[in-house]
Amino acid sequence: MRKRINLKTEIDPNNIPVHMGFIMDGNGRWAKKRGLPRTAGHRAGIDALERVSRACRNLGVKVVSVYAFSTENYKRSDEECKYIFDLVEKFVKDKLEDLIKNDTRIVVSGDLYYNDKLTDGARNTLLEAVEKTAHCKSYVLNFCFSYGGHHEIVQAVNKLIKAGAKEISAQDIENNLYVPELPMPDMIVRASGEMRLSNFLLWQSAYAELLFITEFWPDFNEEIVRKCIVEYQKRNRRFGNV
Ligand code: FPP
Repeated sequence: MRKRINLKTEIDPNNIPVHMGFIMDGNGRWAKKRGLPRTAGHRAGIDALERVSRACRNLGVKVVSVYAFSTENYKRSDEECKYIFDLVEKFVKDKLEDLIKNDTRIVVSGDLYYNDKLTDGARNTLLEAVEKTAHCKSYVLNFCFSYGGHHEIVQAVNKLIKAGAKEISAQDIENNLYVPELPMPDMIVRASGEMRLSNFLLWQSAYAELLFITEFWPDFNEEIVRKCIVEYQKRNRRFGNV
């Protein structure tokens, strides 16, 4: 049988995902391929984050969530953890003024007290960015940092129990996620060809379209973002309906 060809290659401006999530995977492999230390991959990953965020914003995406550091990533060497924390601290400090100018709101999903390895510098810089951009409205960048989907749900449930809940509804959990006002992600994209969620936005991803891209995260750019959105627009989202 002849394959049906989908001729759609252009982005429909009326069907842009509101919220896109990115699992920034493959930094280490990108570096290894070039004979560089893993840390060079994370450094290049920051540049990719800027490219992807700018492309999403220009194309009309309103919220971008990035998986920057998971509750499981603390298992990595002290050196690698510290390198990532220092990178995040420097990036956020360097960009804060621009972010405010561009009306970008920074939010953090995660438990910044999960592990003693997290430096005060990274924690305080992130908290300061959240506070100083709280009034920004054009675009939201959600850093999932010291984040785990299981831990987020467990913390939400424990908060409800402490407040005296006897029975918990799905709505109660949603109201107690790290950033409850964010819409659910429409599409989650994972770099580097791995096909799993790795504890990313587990509650929120219930109806997200999933997309796995073979390129390593440091190679992500506007062209890849455009391809992701074209793919999103081919999906038939039914939300359990017929
Ligand atoms: C996964 O690649 C990447 C990480 C665990 C860290 C990514 C973090 C950044 C790019 C910095 C985030 C910046 C901000 C401002 C929040 P990997 O190391 O697992 O790659 P591998 O699977 O090839 O080893």
